[in-house]
Amino acid sequence: MDFGFTEEQLMIQDVARRIAQEKIAPSAEHHDHTGEFPLENIRTLGENGLMGIEVPAEYGGAGMDPISYVLAMVEIAAGDAAHSTIMSVNNSLFCNGILKFGTEAQKQLYVRAIAEGREIGAFALTEPQSGSDATAMRCKAVKQADGSFVINGKKSWITSGPVAKYIVLFAMTDPDKGARGITAFMIDTAKPGFHRGKTEPKLGIRASATCEIEFEDYVASADDVLGEEGHGFKIAMGVLDAGRIGIASQAIGIARAAYEATLTYVRERKAFGQPIGAFQMTQAKIADMKCKLDAALLLTLRAAWQKGQTEKHGGRFSNEAAIAKLTASEAAMWIAHQAVQIHGGMGYSKEMPLERYFRDAKITEIYEGTSEIQRLVIARNETGLR
Ligand code: CAA
Ligand code: FAD
Repeated sequence: MDFGFTEEQLMIQDVARRIAQEKIAPSAEHHDHTGEFPLENIRTLGENGLMGIEVPAEYGGAGMDPISYVLAMVEIAAGDAAHSTIMSVNNSLFCNGILKFGTEAQKQLYVRAIAEGREIGAFALTEPQSGSDATAMRCKAVKQADGSFVINGKKSWITSGPVAKYIVLFAMTDPDKGARGITAFMIDTAKPGFHRGKTEPKLGIRASATCEIEFEDYVASADDVLGEEGHGFKIAMGVLDAGRIGIASQAIGIARAAYEATLTYVRERKAFGQPIGAFQMTQAKIADMKCKLDAALLLTLRAAWQKGQTEKHGGRFSNEAAIAKLTASEAAMWIAHQAVQIHGGMGYSKEMPLERYFRDAKITEIYEGTSEIQRLVIARNETGLR
């Protein structure tokens, strides 16, 4: 076992840290306040290989490994969580699935545009009546005699939906078959029959635009099918295994930013004639914050390592990814909560970023599978029961 990082991994971490601290963190408060989509910063991330970290160079990416992805995501999330949400959807939910299941033409067309940061991608699984229970989807794709599909239905909560050029969509092609009747499609939002709803006002990650999308007799050609017909649910679940490593990394970035701000504050702020960090009650909180942060990081690196192994040797990393996401998201929420408390009134003020970290941390317990769903995945894997 080796706890060191390679030169390449340290290099991408350094690039991400520099962009996060010089470009992203200084405008994080503005983006949170206005909800403005950070298009210029996203282009910068793309130009530096951060929109397709694991994408091979032949498709416009940085050609790096899953550990590099974790290290870079942590840095961007520590700068601003909303940026890292957009980054994670492009990297893991969009590019990853097409690389694994797409045709050569799909890889050249869709992956290249997103990995280079020229366009934004999205992933559409959730519907108004089906989030955790993803197979209860109603969006339908009906096959025509010429092999094309006519798609009708709604998808909700689509990250980057308001700006996406391309979307990986999951729709029912054979409702009688349940999970085995779902097919994945590549959607071009410029084509007729695609509509976007209003951008959702949100508690946190406010600059990551989210909306409902609707399909009204949208025609997808046979070439727009991603993977095999009826294999869409397994594609979605496999992609989400990778996505959950990204969200775990995002949670660690938010938690680290809250922790580092707290370390500075407890040394400077005085009460009863001493720094508040000298009180045993504060010290216990600092120790617990650090333990949770390190545990989350190590479990996330383990999941990323396991992902790398399955790419070489086959198998799954669903359990490791769920353990990482559950641990990191709950650690982030707890750490951000303690950070606000330790900052007292200033923790509650918009003059400091603590309240933003607190609001941003919450989403990591909800999207890409709630904490309850991660527990369900882990317990099913551990017990073999359901
Ligand atoms: N990889 C490959 N195949 C998988 C899989 C995985 N990780 N998980 C399940 N499958 C397969 C099963 O083996 C099964 O295959 P067979 O038909 O051959 O038996 C099939 O998929 C159905 O599996 P289940 O019976 O386990 O399905 P289920 O209905 O019980 O659901 C679930 C399981 C874990 C609850 C799943 O529905 C789930 O993960 N729900 C949460 C949805 C979610 O995470 N949504 C995120 C949306 S994207 C997002 O949120 C993005 C963002 O915020 C930025
Ligand atoms: P529900 O499934 O209705 O769950 C409600 C509550 O019931 C939760 O606490 C849940 O944990 C609990 N629950 C449900 N089932 C069980 C069970 N079996 N056991 C125990 N408890 C259970 N989706 C996309 O497809 N693409 C995106 O890009 C995307 N981006 C998002 C961005 C944001 C900001 C948000 C808020 C959501 C996004 N989502 C996206 C949707 C997200 O994945 C879902 O919100 C999430 O999976 C939960 O689904 P739900 O909201 O329908 O809650």
